[in-house]
Amino acid sequence: MTLIEWRDELRVGIPEVDDDHHALVDLINRLYTQLKSGQSAATIVDFLGELYASVARHFAGEEEIMKTHEHAHYEEHAAEHKQLLDDICNMIDDYQDGVLNDDQQMADRLDDWFCTHFKTQDIRLHELAK
Ligand SMILES: [Fe+2]
Repeated sequence: MTLIEWRDELRVGIPEVDDDHHALVDLINRLYTQLKSGQSAATIVDFLGELYASVARHFAGEEEIMKTHEHAHYEEHAAEHKQLLDDICNMIDDYQDGVLNDDQQMADRLDDWFCTHFKTQDIRLHELAK
């Protein structure tokens, strides 16, 4: 099942970043499939943990690239990464506490989580690909 369709507009033109983003979209779609197919809470929490680890790795890589290229929006972008990692922790807590027990709500949060950051920050990485 597909929550986020991988498409050309999601490419920033830096192969490592594009490959990571594609892998993250795949991971989010796999999580969405698990949510929709009624997997156990333990499986979902494990998967969210896997997502957190992949995202943390990806953000560290993206931050290295920004530093190397002296990206003008580095501080702002890196601060948002911190916030986004906290958001995943909050999703895990909310899921475990039963506050976020609706599949669609979780899917909406994941979609918003990826797409909003992409549109506001990652899209500007295009500048570094030139
Ligand atoms: Fe980013």
